[in-house]
Amino acid sequence: MSMLEIINMTKLYKTGDGVKDINLTIREGELVTLLGPSGCGKTTILRTIGGFLNVDGGDIRIAGQSIIHLPPEKRPTSMVFQAYNLWPHMRVFDNLEFGLKLRKIPRAERARRISEMMALVKMSGMEKKYPGQMSGGQQQRIAIARALLLEPQVLLLDEPFSALDAKIRQQMREELRKIQTDLNITVAFVTHDQEEAMALSDRVVVMNKGNIEQEGSPQDIYHRPQSRYVADFIGEMNFLQMPDKKVLAVRPEHVEVSPGSGGDLDGYVRTIMMLGHYIEMTVDTDHGIVKAFISDEQAQSFGRGDAVTLRFGRKQEYTTP
Ligand SMILES: Nc1ncnc2c1ncn2[C@@H]1O[C@H](COP(=O)(O)OP(=O)(O)O)[C@@H](O)[C@H]1O
Ligand SMILES: [Mg+2]
Repeated sequence: MSMLEIINMTKLYKTGDGVKDINLTIREGELVTLLGPSGCGKTTILRTIGGFLNVDGGDIRIAGQSIIHLPPEKRPTSMVFQAYNLWPHMRVFDNLEFGLKLRKIPRAERARRISEMMALVKMSGMEKKYPGQMSGGQQQRIAIARALLLEPQVLLLDEPFSALDAKIRQQMREELRKIQTDLNITVAFVTHDQEEAMALSDRVVVMNKGNIEQEGSPQDIYHRPQSRYVADFIGEMNFLQMPDKKVLAVRPEHVEVSPGSGGDLDGYVRTIMMLGHYIEMTVDTDHGIVKAFISDEQAQSFGRGDAVTLRFGRKQEYTTP
């Protein structure tokens, strides 16, 4: 079932920036990520869903009902932002209880739900803390808990982990995914971090300057990028200029390096760099520098300046305008 439908939606600011003719459907229980560089319109879309911005055209439906004429508090959505989510003068418990009080949930029931939710986000025992007494990661757990307590039909998350350290960010990502699948929540997630999008999503929507450039599963987007823009934005990619304005795109893990010549492209080893669990080699060729990921073993057998030949496994071809 389609939980969220965005139909020909346009939202333009006075400056002319914004998003135009957006079409997007999210199924019940699906986590869909809007991915793109800063300024491409991700937040604008999320805010129109949450009701913090009015649309100029088109429609937004949740469970089949148009919601564009409802104020934010009447919409079946709740939103978590990058930062400043919690009321700083209120303890964690009061932050969580506020929305439930507004909904006239009885006191005992409020306490029960909050206690369950605190366990779910692994924050039991922190009820009496103020936001300022917690780490950024802990505050975002509480912000997500508060959003979930309102039992939204669609949860909106706008770069919720972007301000956190890499390690915490990864952990939060895994926990969010677990909670989301366990509770079967429908989520629209926004990030500019392609790795986060790939790791977290059922489906990724890649945006470019106010438009949707491509949408698909993480595998689809990674292995079958339909434009040079997507190929460039997602993961690492070598672009090799070919005759007739053709560009060959090959990922470093699909470049096989062997000694000698006679493969798809010959060249000379330029650098070999140890990057933890893999090694990166760059090779000088007539079509530019090519990056390859190689094994530790392989790295031992090559040195700078060696003549090598490259064979390309998976590749894509684009024509430049
Ligand atoms: N309140 C606003 N007034 C005018 N322009 C805005 C406003 N908010 C965002 N924009 C512009 O709209 C475009 C999309 O912004 P935004 O949705 O915030 O992008 P993202 O979240 O992908 O970084 C950008 O060009 C931005 O400068
Ligand atoms: Mg944004």
